[in-house]
Amino acid sequence: MPLGCLKPYLEGARGRYNTHLFIMEVNQLLSQTNDYLSSLGYPSSPELLYRPVEYALEAGGKRLRPLFVLMSYGLFADDYERAMPCAAAIEVFHNFTLLHDDIMDNAPLRRGRPTVWNRWGENVAILSGDAMIISSYSLLAKAPAHLLQRVMECFNRVAMQVCEGQQYDMDFESRQTVEQSEYINMIALKTSVLFEGAIEIGAILGGADEQNIALLKEFALEFGLAFQLQDDLLDSYGDSRLGKSVGGDILEGKKTFLMISALNSATDEDREALGTICHDNSLTSEQKIAHTLAIYDHYDVKTRTEAEINRRFEKALNALSKVEANADALATLREFVEGLMNRDK
Ligand code: IPE
Ligand code: IPE
Ligand code: MG
Ligand code: MG
Ligand code: MG
Repeated sequence: MPLGCLKPYLEGARGRYNTHLFIMEVNQLLSQTNDYLSSLGYPSSPELLYRPVEYALEAGGKRLRPLFVLMSYGLFADDYERAMPCAAAIEVFHNFTLLHDDIMDNAPLRRGRPTVWNRWGENVAILSGDAMIISSYSLLAKAPAHLLQRVMECFNRVAMQVCEGQQYDMDFESRQTVEQSEYINMIALKTSVLFEGAIEIGAILGGADEQNIALLKEFALEFGLAFQLQDDLLDSYGDSRLGKSVGGDILEGKKTFLMISALNSATDEDREALGTICHDNSLTSEQKIAHTLAIYDHYDVKTRTEAEINRRFEKALNALSKVEANADALATLREFVEGLMNRDK
């Protein structure tokens, strides 16, 4: 048999072998990501600059964004170690946003531990956060030279959009009414774009074509919306497994999907209550949360939020189903995100 005749067979076998590895090893991707992150080796001094960085990175978290980089890369290529520095860059950036977000949201707990500002003070959380952005750029700069400019452009666009989303989030706290469309735009910026960036950078590194990149971004946008809606839901209806203090959004006067849905259907009296409970100094935090949840329950806000999560998630899966890439790797990504839809943390 001429060797050329074996080529399709060998390629098929190679494809299956690598795909098999990919399916088996999402957990391995996770542990390699964790190993890579813990090997970054920050200096020991100044301790109050670098120790909080390590504290944030060692606390775990779901590592969704680096896994998105690696899985997106894995749709088009198989030597995924090449994508690891960029995957880590996105995770370090994500953790930077959390350091500052926890100050802005007055949040005492994250991943079951005191937040950085709560443990070391706000100044430390600000500066350690700054160090983390610089660290994420150092990691990103390890992208292959011929792709670096495109990767940087994507990252810079996303990073600025996250800041925009965070500012809208803060602006909305002091507004009495916010449209659902404004809310969706805000969470697209603060949350979806980082998933989009992770997916896009993975696809760029893997050599995907523009059509696939566009579909993957659409997938990530809708997934990110579903994810943030779920985050909002868990903030009000979750339990200690969340690792964050439940009810924080209510206490901060956040205009979440839940709050906006309740405001949109409430009687004048309930709308007035929803707008004033969180500022009422005669109530304890527990009472503020309990009163607000009672109004949410009255207007069936939980079910309505779940319906919107499912709608967004279906849109995400629909976009993903149009991507042309390794079928098994696509199935793995699909199963992975499906697993996340029932999360409790
Ligand atoms: C928290 O993100 C911030 C949001 C965008 C909701 P995650 O829920 O992914 O946080 P970790 O990294 O797993 O802790
Ligand atoms: C955070 O949204 C989004 C960013 C950090 C950019 P949230 O404020 O809802 O996230 P959690 O609930 O604190 O994790
Ligand atoms: Mg926030
Ligand atoms: Mg927050
Ligand atoms: Mg939240």
